[in-house]
Amino acid sequence: MDLASGTGEIARLCRNLGFNFTGLDWAEPMLERARAKLPDVTFIQADAECTMLPAASFDVIVTRHLVWTLVDPGAAFAEWHRLLAPNGVLLVVDGDFVHRNWFARLLAPKSATSQRASRHQEILNRVYFSKGARADAVTALLSTAGFREISVDYNLHGVHRAQARALGWRKSLLRRSEHRYVITARKH
Ligand SMILES: C[S@@+](CC[C@H](N)C(=O)[O-])C[C@H]1O[C@@H](n2cnc3c(N)ncnc32)[C@H](O)[C@@H]1O
Repeated sequence: MDLASGTGEIARLCRNLGFNFTGLDWAEPMLERARAKLPDVTFIQADAECTMLPAASFDVIVTRHLVWTLVDPGAAFAEWHRLLAPNGVLLVVDGDFVHRNWFARLLAPKSATSQRASRHQEILNRVYFSKGARADAVTALLSTAGFREISVDYNLHGVHRAQARALGWRKSLLRRSEHRYVITARKH
């Protein structure tokens, strides 16, 4: 399961690696783009925090750049634990995109208008990780939800290197300066 599949970029990677999987997103425009890209893959519309899908339906759940926006990550992680088959694995790719050190502040593009910045802040105030999703806070909640063998990998240099050409030097440096991580966790 690719949770919060967006335009289907992670889905495309999964498909190319030979996995048989389902994509899920709550936004129809995102689903449309993903379906156009991967017509042979099933994409369903649902809320990742409460999917209404049967228990133990998936061996692996992958999710990139969703966790930091969750309203109730504790409930979401319990839901993902329920969705996984015994021994199933959760893989979270995420980061703290709120707190920025001086170097990142220097590189980050300035918000176009103050109206846009205050709208951004308004939305941030409504999410659980309004001060940024640090890996230790995420792993603590995963453990409470019942996940075991939780491990955090901060070494994303290979990924950043591969993305650098497409991103340009400014975005690429910004990525490297951020608190980004991959968490894997298992349902026993
Ligand atoms: C930043 S995009 C990431 C897309 C994709 N995972 C990727 O890495 O390319 C975030 C996606 O999460 C979806 N999303 C956010 N909250 C969601 C929720 N509670 N349930 C389902 N989808 C959600 C949005 O519609 C959007 O497509």
